[in-house]
Amino acid sequence: MNEFKSKEIDVNIWQALVKNAQQAYQKAYAPYSNFSVGAAAITTDNKIVQGCNVENASYGLTVCAERNCIAQGVIATEHNNTNKLEFKALVVYTEQEKLTPPCGACRQVISEFFPGDAQIKAVNHLNQQQQWTVEQLLPDAFTPYDLINKT
Ligand code: THU
Repeated sequence: MNEFKSKEIDVNIWQALVKNAQQAYQKAYAPYSNFSVGAAAITTDNKIVQGCNVENASYGLTVCAERNCIAQGVIATEHNNTNKLEFKALVVYTEQEKLTPPCGACRQVISEFFPGDAQIKAVNHLNQQQQWTVEQLLPDAFTPYDLINKT
């Protein structure tokens, strides 16, 4: 529990993440589903990055907001292909009455780059929120190579 507390994210950071996720939401390319999603994440070196969903006429090629956001973080961070790249928190923003937790594919990609006790929040335009740890979203994640140093 104490360890979990030490990872808690400051309220100002959550606010900044929500604002960034709202901005990203405005950039969503979702002409097929009309279901726009924005995401924002903060890296361990305190860079905030954004992502939106980008759909395709070949529907299965659609990329979710969360995975595009993580790709931005990979580009923004010095990691040299080592275990230095980690994120601390992520917000998913939609304008749906029902909150949007990350899909299964995104949970797997999140678990690649976020420690198990990192926090993920779904927020909507009504300011409703729900929060999980990465471990709660994807218990017993597939991590055969264990490249990420979680100390
Ligand atoms: N979508 C996301 O961006 N994130 C999720 O976690 C779930 C789904 C997008 C994909 C697609 O463009 C639209 O939402 C409807 O499924």
